[in-house]
Amino acid sequence: MKEQSPAAAHMTLATVRGWVRDAGRIALLSGAGMSAESGVPTFRDAQTGLWARFRPEELATEDAFRANPATVWDWYAMRRDMVAKVAPNAGHAAVAAFQQRHPNRLTVITQNVDGLHQRAGSPGVLALHGSLLEDKWLDAPRPCCLSQPPLEGRPPRCAVCGNLRRPAVVWFGEMLPVDVLAAAEAAARACDLMLVVGTSGVVYPAAGLARSAAATARMVVVNPDASDLDDAAHAVLRGTAAALLPQLLQEDT
Ligand code: OAD
Repeated sequence: MKEQSPAAAHMTLATVRGWVRDAGRIALLSGAGMSAESGVPTFRDAQTGLWARFRPEELATEDAFRANPATVWDWYAMRRDMVAKVAPNAGHAAVAAFQQRHPNRLTVITQNVDGLHQRAGSPGVLALHGSLLEDKWLDAPRPCCLSQPPLEGRPPRCAVCGNLRRPAVVWFGEMLPVDVLAAAEAAARACDLMLVVGTSGVVYPAAGLARSAAATARMVVVNPDASDLDDAAHAVLRGTAAALLPQLLQEDT
């Protein structure tokens, strides 16, 4: 992890609140830390209990699913159940409330697959890594797959050809959805301010959106710990999403 520049370290919450007030267009790029205070473990901290012996990078791939479909399906089912039991936090709520007060001024780009921005009421969320709450066919669906509901199972499958249902998330080594990435790149280009919340900044192309925005807009990192994007930031606010976002985005900004 790199340290932020000395100038970025001296920027205060009040300064960044002024940037929020002045910005015509804002993009907010979120990562797993955005949902930490809702009780969703961050991606790299998520492995407990039965799952502790697996690395997420070894489960979140097409090869892993094809080799062990039930194991990977069960891992996602566990994460889906966990997300169903939690609620958006004060950070998600502050973002959604700002968007409702200022239509079309703030675009949420998220790496999270938990749906919590959407549940908080954020419109038009650009979910770069898909959704944990949805499934899709593993192989291109044939007419038989589409003609009847899949057989229940772990994972569910087509009764005729055996095609499997898989989580509608982006796995390691897969392309991001082209239209979502294009919209996120456009939002990053158009913004005057990008808030980068709760991401380690190590996974691309998501982290690249923050780096490219920093060339033409103010870029602010909100994270209690050091991140890989601190060196590119115009300000680094050390604190959590649920504590800082309400202060940054509150009514009088
Ligand atoms: P990580 O788990 O890599 O990083 C989480 C970040 O959140 C860390 O920098 C923490 O310091 C920070 N953090 C923890 N608690 C926080 C809080 N309460 N408020 C704000 N920040 C907090 O998660 P991501 O950066 O999202 O991709 O990981 C990016 C991608 O890597 C994920 O979308 C996933 C994974 O590979 C795919 O599955 C394709």
